[in-house]
This record gives sequence, structure tokens and C-alpha cells, in this order.
Amino acid sequence: MSQTPRQDQFIANDVTSNSSNTTRPMLVKEYKKIGHGAFGTVVQAFLTPDNNKWYGPFAIKKVPAQTEYKSRELEILRIAEHPNVVKLEYFFTHVSPQDNKVYQHLAMECLPETLQFEIHRYASNKLELPLKHTKLYTYQVARGMLYLHALGICHRDVKPSNVLVDPNTGVLKICDFGSAKKLEQNQPSISYICSRFYRAPELIVGCTQYTTQIDIWGLGCVMGEMLIGKAVFQGQEPLLQLREISKLLGPPDKKFLFFSNPSYDGPLFSKPLFTGTVKERFEKHFGQAGSDGVDLMMKILTYEPERRLSPRRILAHPFFDDLKKERYFFPRGHTQPKCLPELFDFTPFEMQVIGELAPEVQPQE
Ligand SMILES: Nc1ncnc2c1ncn2[C@@H]1O[C@H](COP(=O)(O)OP(=O)(O)O)[C@@H](O)[C@H]1O
Ligand SMILES: [Mg+2]
Repeated sequence: MSQTPRQDQFIANDVTSNSSNTTRPMLVKEYKKIGHGAFGTVVQAFLTPDNNKWYGPFAIKKVPAQTEYKSRELEILRIAEHPNVVKLEYFFTHVSPQDNKVYQHLAMECLPETLQFEIHRYASNKLELPLKHTKLYTYQVARGMLYLHALGICHRDVKPSNVLVDPNTGVLKICDFGSAKKLEQNQPSISYICSRFYRAPELIVGCTQYTTQIDIWGLGCVMGEMLIGKAVFQGQEPLLQLREISKLLGPPDKKFLFFSNPSYDGPLFSKPLFTGTVKERFEKHFGQAGSDGVDLMMKILTYEPERRLSPRRILAHPFFDDLKKERYFFPRGHTQPKCLPELFDFTPFEMQVIGELAPEVQPQE
């Protein structure tokens, strides 16, 4: 006798495996909702082709299927293969019994937490994320970006809720490619992208010829948030976001505006909103990161995108020397040290991007 699937399980007819590219029907069993964002929901689920062998758990992201054009998120996830980018395992479309609409389902490897949750956990207990963790996580975001940017892929929504971590192993993976785009030279892109607190200054003033360096700004904001336990620049509305940035960096200069958007006519916040030098302000805000950490923050959070460090220069920065010298860290809640995850197993593709910086990026035996 055939069983009628329960509400939380259904048969998907065309489940494609991303690695083998083969398609077959599978039974999908959903367990719990683990996230929901602007476009859809994410549930934890298992898949089986025969009711016998179960695969998973996966995090299945459901987004309304695009009819007129292909989903960029799927396209990008299909090609991205990197230890610091969430892995797509299967994908399929299915009609939702709730609204009879077609949804794209992306079944990804499932990680236990987001970096947002991890930062919040410490902050709400009035604790600081250990500096070693900040180094470990920042490094892995930068390594993921080295790979994505080398492929021309700009994430365009870097923030702690789009970064997944496993606090037990220290592994980090970038997720949510819902806003990502392969940027082509001299092709404009919309500037209304990125969540407000993490938007690069060139986006705020309306630049449409931006580069993957907008993600580096986001990385700096994420690193800062790990250091101080809250978002670094909390603008109450889009243009006031620039005011928050000016408080730390000083006002943007004419050259920056000219190259970002010569017709920008919004507020410039050129009256001093601060005291002391830029370095003193960075030291005051991020002193707990040590002099290397402050130096790195200053080199990432700069107005001019081309002066912001590139991913390979970030990986080569002395702030990460501890990760190369010591092989252990203390995961949250553990009293015993654990081995750091693999951080330096670069592929030939990554080595090519790293180029002459290899001696600074790789640990010296
Ligand atoms: N692979 C995954 N493993 C664990 N949780 C995930 C995974 N993917 C997404 N999530 C959770 O679901 C949330 C929303 O997913 P995301 O891809 O960011 O969608 P949205 O475009 O709606 O923001 C994430 O912030 C995270 O909490
Ligand atoms: Mg998201």
C-alpha cells in the first residue's frame, strides 16, 4: 500500500545532483525552518531516492522560480566550489501546495550557525569574541572572496547573517548568493544593493561602475562587528549611513566623489564630526585587535575602492600570522584546544591569484 506523504514531506520529481548532473525523483522530508529572508524560506531537510538511504541534513532555500530569466543564484552556486563558499548539493523546482506557485529549491550543505548569531551570542553576554576567532573568521571570508572575485563574482550582500560558521570546527562559509552578480568591465550595475550598514561609500553616493571591492568594505564591517559586538556604521537611513562613516574616516574627498558619481548632490558631512586623527579614532574603536588589527581595519575601511586592500593582500597581512604559527584554537565552550581547520590548502587557481605574495600568505615551515 502506498503511503500518502505527510505535509512536511513530498516527492520532488526532478532533483538534480550538482556534482553528477543527474536527475531523479526523491522524497524530501522537512524538519524545521532555519531561516527566512527577503525572498524566501530556508528549511532543514533530508532527501532519499528510495526511502532507505537518507542524504542530509541539507539547508533547502526556497525562492520563487524565475520564469523569464535564469536564476543567478543557482548559476553562481553551480559553479562555485571552494572551502569557504557554501556548497550546493541538489536543486529542483516544486509547486508549493500553499500558494500553487513554482519555487526553486536549493539544497545546500547545512552549517549550524550564522556569524550574526555567533557575534550576538557573545555580545548579549557582554563578552568579546576571542581575537583568535576574529582572525580565523575574517581570514576565511577573505579567502572565499579571493576565489569569488577571481571569477568576477561580486557577492553584493556581505553581512554577518550571510556568513555561516561551525563554532565547533571554526569552519566558515559564505552563503546567500541571491544578490550576487558576475561584474563585467564597463557594464553598469544597480547601486541600490547591499544592506545599509554594510554598504560601501561608493554605493551610498550612487556609483554604478563599482567593482568587487564593495565586498571588501563589507568584510571590513564584518570584522569590525566581531571586534566590537555591534555593527560599526549604523546609519538610521540611507544617506545618514555616510554620516556614520564620516565620523570614523572623516568626510569623503572630491576625488572620491568625482570617480564614484560626479552628479552626487546629497549631503557631504564635511563639517568635522570627530576629534583626533583617523588613526587615533581607529585605535579607540578597534584597539582590542592590536596594532596589526588596527592597521588592517584602516587599510580595508578606506573610501577609495582601489586603495582598499585586495583579498590576497588581506591574506598576506601580519594580522593573520597567529593562524600560520599556531595550529590550535579553543572552540566556544571547549576547555581543550582543537586543531584549526585547513586554511592553507590552496588550489593552483588560488596560488595563481596569490602570485608573488605566496611567501607571505603561506605558513613558513
Ligand atoms: N546552508 C545553510 N546552513 C544553515 N543555515 C542556512 C544555510 N543557508 C541559509 N541559512 C539560514 O537561512 C537564512 C536565510 O538564508 P539566505 O540564503 O541568507 O536567504 P535570504 O536571501 O532570504 O537572506 C540565513 O541567514 C541562515 O540563517
Ligand atoms: Mg541572507
